[in-house]
Amino acid sequence: MNSTKIIQGGMGLGVSDWRLARAVSLCDQLGVVSGTALDLIFVRRLQQGDPDGDMRRGLAAFPDAEMAQSILDQYFIPAGKKKDKPYASKAMVGHQPSLALQKLLVVANFVEVFLAKQGHDGLVGINFLHKIQTPIMPSLYGAMLAGVDVVIVGAGIPLQIPSIIDNLCRGEVAEFDLYVQGEEGSGGHKLIFDPAEVMGGACEALARPLFFPIVSSATLAMVMVKKCKGQVDGLIVEGPSAGGHNAPPRGKAVFNEEGEPVYGVRDEVNLEQIARLGLPFWLAGSYGKPEELQKALAAGAAGVQVGTIFAFCEESGLRGDIKSDVIKSCLQGRVQIKTDPVASPTGFPFKVISIAETLSEEEDYNKRKRMCDLGYLREAYELPDGSVGWRCRAEDPKNYVKSGGKLEDSVGKKCLCNGLMANIGLAQVRSDAYEELPLVTCGDDLEGIQRLSTMQDPCYTSADVIDFLLPVS
Ligand SMILES: Cc1cc2nc3c(=O)[nH]c(=O)nc-3n(C[C@H](O)[C@H](O)[C@H](O)COP(=O)(O)O)c2cc1C
Repeated sequence: MNSTKIIQGGMGLGVSDWRLARAVSLCDQLGVVSGTALDLIFVRRLQQGDPDGDMRRGLAAFPDAEMAQSILDQYFIPAGKKKDKPYASKAMVGHQPSLALQKLLVVANFVEVFLAKQGHDGLVGINFLHKIQTPIMPSLYGAMLAGVDVVIVGAGIPLQIPSIIDNLCRGEVAEFDLYVQGEEGSGGHKLIFDPAEVMGGACEALARPLFFPIVSSATLAMVMVKKCKGQVDGLIVEGPSAGGHNAPPRGKAVFNEEGEPVYGVRDEVNLEQIARLGLPFWLAGSYGKPEELQKALAAGAAGVQVGTIFAFCEESGLRGDIKSDVIKSCLQGRVQIKTDPVASPTGFPFKVISIAETLSEEEDYNKRKRMCDLGYLREAYELPDGSVGWRCRAEDPKNYVKSGGKLEDSVGKKCLCNGLMANIGLAQVRSDAYEELPLVTCGDDLEGIQRLSTMQDPCYTSADVIDFLLPVS
């Protein structure tokens, strides 16, 4: 792994799907599938009729044939659902997911990793967002059943993950302390995952994947290394120019004229301190160019984690028309990217590309009736009787406030769950014929895309990206 110079960053939802990760792994670099919302992506692919048979190929390899069959029976529509009909709804993942939902999470994550690993012996990773707490344990277990090699976790401080991985390797019950707003003291609400209950019997020992947290400072890196119960095997050090969510700036919030958070010297990562921790590390955020890879290596990094340039390559899960529009706009120097401090229900800054007929545009955003039906970014809060409730900052503000949320926290929030599903061609259609609109993210640095594509030939593959980044040996 230490010789892997390029990690293709995990990109949710479904942008770094099994096809992209597999293509990268075939080039001897680390391909990473996004583990976010795979249960939902998987059942929608089945409802589309699974045209190439990939989902069914993955299901056929799942160790418990009965469990795989019951999921197929529940969701598969052989001819595909009609375009104007909604996808069947699926239970949201709360802190006590039903056994059926846990099974679905295990199977969906298994299938994605299994497909990414097929036909080669390269390494495959999976990426999770720590903020999305409830699906993490069954998802991890499914990925590990398929032999995932590396687990990468961002958007939070994933101190609990290594010990969960260790328990799951041994087929033992794992626990996760749920973060609940307003709870007195910590650790009062636990998520429990028992692999034997889900698999219906004793579980075999599984190989332990490596664990790499994503950090945005040397302080956080040190906390992870010193305080984790269990092993940290490497670090991804990500700066604020990266695509997707960014860590908020340190210190007092300052905004520029566009309303974007301003990052300063306090946000610069001390790489010497990181190197002193003695772990391999990869730098992320505007490293998608050969010169940047060389700079990273010179600073002692094992390599770079790159997202944006891979997001628009042929094998990524993004809709084809979105890819070619963005690439062409890039070549014409017309792309506008905003680090939006409020769009994401997580409260973290989120980068959004301005594209017509997507939620980035105010007029289109205002046309959408605010509601929450997918629920991955909901926050847990404590009810007066001590139980846990769930609310989303992007839902109808009236409901958000009714459940104790502050109105100001709901302002400008966008439904990332539905928007990101639309990005990959799995948009929900509502009963009033409204189709959910995309919301596209990417990093600040688009030069690599400009150097790899032309107006006549805007397409490039992940192998082109790797050839471009790696020095000729
Ligand atoms: C479309 C897109 C989606 C992303 N989604 C995630 C994600 O789900 N989890 C995560 O940890 N990072 C995510 N990222 C960040 C990438 O994994 C990677 O660290 C980052 O893109 C590197 O910087 P770059 O964009 O300048 O290449 C995303 C990036 C992009 C472009």
